[in-house]
Amino acid sequence: PAADHAPALVIGSGYGAAVAALRLARAGVRTVVLEMGRLWETPGPDGKVFCRTIAPDHRSMWFRTRTEAPLATFLWLDVVNRNISPYPGVLDRIDYGDMAVYVGRGVGGGSLVNGGMAVTPPRSYFSEVLPQVDADAMYGTYFPRARSALGVNSIDRAWFESTPWYRYSRVSRAHAARAGIGTVFVPNVYDFDHMRREAAGTAPKSALAGEVLYGNNHGKRSLDKTYLAAALATGLVTVETLSRVRAVRPHARGHVVTVERLDLRGRVRATDEITTSRLFLGAGSLGTTELLLRARETGALPDLSPEVGRGWGHNGNVMAARANHVWDPVGARQSTMPVLGIDDWNNPTHPVFAEVAPLPMGLEHWISLYLAITKNPERGHFVYDAVRDRARLRWSRDQNGPSVAAARSLFGRLNRVNGTVYRHDLFGGNRAIADDFTYHPLGGCVLGRATDLYGRVRGHRGIYVVDGSLIPGSLGVNPFVTITALAERNMERIIREDVLRDPRGR
Ligand code: FDA
Repeated sequence: PAADHAPALVIGSGYGAAVAALRLARAGVRTVVLEMGRLWETPGPDGKVFCRTIAPDHRSMWFRTRTEAPLATFLWLDVVNRNISPYPGVLDRIDYGDMAVYVGRGVGGGSLVNGGMAVTPPRSYFSEVLPQVDADAMYGTYFPRARSALGVNSIDRAWFESTPWYRYSRVSRAHAARAGIGTVFVPNVYDFDHMRREAAGTAPKSALAGEVLYGNNHGKRSLDKTYLAAALATGLVTVETLSRVRAVRPHARGHVVTVERLDLRGRVRATDEITTSRLFLGAGSLGTTELLLRARETGALPDLSPEVGRGWGHNGNVMAARANHVWDPVGARQSTMPVLGIDDWNNPTHPVFAEVAPLPMGLEHWISLYLAITKNPERGHFVYDAVRDRARLRWSRDQNGPSVAAARSLFGRLNRVNGTVYRHDLFGGNRAIADDFTYHPLGGCVLGRATDLYGRVRGHRGIYVVDGSLIPGSLGVNPFVTITALAERNMERIIREDVLRDPRGR
C-alpha cells in the first residue's frame, strides 16, 4: 500500500466518493481512495478499453462465466448473453432473490456504465423526500455546482429533430403526445459535440456504436475524466484499485479498515490494514450499507444507529417495452444516450417519469423501450447474514405492486391511444413489465436517520457517508446529479466544521 495511515480515506470512487476526494484535496488533505474495481484506461487486445454491448467479453461483468444483461432475450431466445471468462469487469449485478441491482465497478463507479442522464429532480419532490435539506441552497448553489463539475450538456434541438439516431425518441414523443402526455429533454454528461462528429464520421463512434452498460470508449464524461481527474491533479490524492474494503473498526488514530487486494482472477493476494483519522464511505447504497451493517452486527462499531440498513428503495424502477406498427419504424440506428423523458410525474394517482431508452440492435425492431421511475412508498431493509458475512436485502416482489400499476397505467394509455401492444419476449418469463431489477439503488444509511443532517455517521465520530445510501429510496428522477450535489453540500460543511477546525492528521 501507498501508506498504512491516511489522513483521509475514501471507500469507493463513484459520485459521492469523487466529490469527497476532490473537496478534501482542495482543502489540503492528503487522501487515499480505495476502489475494488480496476482502472479503465488501458486498451485490450482489440485496441479498445471497453467491450461492445452486443458483443460482450471478459471486460463486461464482474467475475462471471456468463453475462447477465437486463434484457435477457429477444423473441424469447437467449441471444443476448455470452459466455465469458471471469475478470474484474465493469458491470456487476447483485442478486437478492426478488430484486437484482446493477452497479458499476471500477474507478468512476456507476459513471462508467450508466446512461449519463443528468436530471435535477423537481424541487417540490426533492423537498418531499429530503425535507430537512435547505432547497434554496441546493437549487441555488449545489445543483449548479454539481452540474458544472460533471460536464452536463444538452442536445442541440435542431439536430435532435433531424438525425436518424434519435428517431426512436421522436416516435415515443409522438405516441405520448397522442395520449396527451408531455415529454421533456433530459441533459446528459455525454459530449453532444462529440456525438455529432460521430454522426458526421469525423470522430470514433461510441454512443452511435451501441456502447453503454459495459462502458463507453469515447464521448462520455465519466468521473475519471471530471471529478477524479481534478482530484488527482491536486497531487494529494492516491487511488488504489482492486482494493476491496471488508471491515472497519475503531483505532487510537481514528479508525482502521481491512483491505483485500485482489488479483485479476478475483483471488485475495494480500490483506492490509490502513488507519485513518477520517473515513468517508462512498461504496454506493449497497456497499456502504453492507460495511456499516457488518460493523454494527459483528460488534466492531456497536454504537451505530439501528437505522443503518433501513430505508432502502429502488427509485420505483421498472422497464417496459411496446411493439409499434410496421409503418412506424424506430430506426436501426439508435444513440445509446437517452435524451427524452415522458413526464407524467404530476399524475395524481400514478406518477411516472419514463426515460425513452434505446435498444441499439443494429436492425429495425419496431420496439419502444422505457425505464420508468415511479413513486413507490414501499421500502426494503438489509439484514446481516453472519454465515456468509454479507448483507441480505429484504424486499419481496409484491412490494413492486405500486410501480407495476403505475407503469401499466401509463403504457396502457399509450398502447390504447396508439393501437399498439406490449412486447413480452424481452425480460424473460413472458413479462411485459420487468420489475425484478433496478439501476437506482438508494438508501440504507438515510440522511438524518443513520447519519446527522450532513452525513456524519451517528454513534461513531470521524465516519461519514457520502453516496446514494443517504437518499431515502426514491427521488423521482435518475439519481447521480442529486447524489453529487448532496455530497457537495455535505462536504462543504464537513470540511469547514470538522476538517479545518480540527486539522489532526492533515
Ligand atoms: P457508485 O455505485 O457510483 O460507486 C460506488 C463505488 O464503490 C463503485 O465503484 C464500487 O466498485 C465501489 N465499492 C463498493 N464496495 C466497495 C468496497 N467494499 N471496497 C472498495 N470499493 C467498493 N443515474 C443517473 O443519474 N442517470 C443515468 O442515466 C443512469 N443510468 C444508469 C444505468 C446503469 C446501467 C446503472 C447501473 C446505473 C445508472 N444510473 C444512472 C445510476 C447511477 O449510476 C448511480 O445512482 C450512481 O452511480 C450511484 O453513485 P454512488 O456514489 O452512490 O455509488
